[in-house]
Amino acid sequence: MSLSSTIDLIADKVKVHLIKAEGGHDWSHIQRVWYNAKVIGAQEDGVDEEIISLATLLHDIADPKFHNGDETIGPRIAREWLEECKVPEVTIVHIVNIIKHMSFKNSLDAEVWTSPELKVVQDADRLDAIGAIGIARAFNYGGHKDRAMFDPEIAPALQMTKEEYKKSAAPTINHFYEKLLKLKSMMNTKTGIKMAAERHDYMVAYLEQFYKECGLTPSWHQV
Ligand code: ADP
Ligand code: NI
Repeated sequence: MSLSSTIDLIADKVKVHLIKAEGGHDWSHIQRVWYNAKVIGAQEDGVDEEIISLATLLHDIADPKFHNGDETIGPRIAREWLEECKVPEVTIVHIVNIIKHMSFKNSLDAEVWTSPELKVVQDADRLDAIGAIGIARAFNYGGHKDRAMFDPEIAPALQMTKEEYKKSAAPTINHFYEKLLKLKSMMNTKTGIKMAAERHDYMVAYLEQFYKECGLTPSWHQV
C-alpha cells in the first residue's frame, strides 16, 4: 500500500476510534493539529510530510490520562495499525517515537530523543492547546473532570514533576500557568513560534478580562 493510501486509511480508523472521545481530544482536535502540521511542515526544509501526517493522526489514539495512566497503549495501537498497512519498519519506529516523545508531561522529564518531524508535530499539537481553541479545550477538560474554574485561594504550582502534574486536580485557570502560558517559549520551529505568539497574547488578554469580570486579580497573575 502506498503511504498516501495508508494516510487515508489510518485517518478513517482514527475518526471511528475517537467517536466517544472527550471534546478536546477528539477527531476535530486531530484535524486542527493536522492542518497546523501542514502549515508548519511546508516551511521546514527536508521534513517527511507522510511521517508528519501519520504521527499527527495517531498521536492521541489512546491518551494515558483517559486510560488509567497507561502510556503503552497508544504506541502499541499505532504500531499494530501501521504494521497492518505494511508500513516499513524504519518508518514505524520513527512514528512511534514521535508519539512517545511529543507530550508536554513527558517534556517535564529529561528527554533525549528528537527529530525534525517530531518538532513539527509537537508544535502543531501545542498550538491547539493555546489561543481561542486552547481556552475552550481547557474548560471543556475541566468540566469533564468536574473541576472548579477558578479559586483565588489555590495558587498554581509552577514547578511540577511529571507525577505531580498528572495528579493535579486544581481549578482550570491554574492550568494556564502550569502549562498553557509556558508553551510559547517551548516552540521548536520558526512558523510555530510566530503562530504561538498571537495565540499567547490572546490568552493573556482573556485572563485579564476574566479577572476584571470577577472584580479581583489573583496575586500570582504575573505574565
Ligand atoms: P499532553 O497530553 O501533551 O501531555 P496534557 O495532558 O497536559 O498534555 O493536556 C492536553 C490538553 O488537555 C491540554 O492542552 C488541555 O487542553 C487539556 N488539559 C489537560 N490537563 C488539564 C487541566 N488540568 N485543566 C484543563 N485542561 C487540561
Ligand atoms: Ni493532541
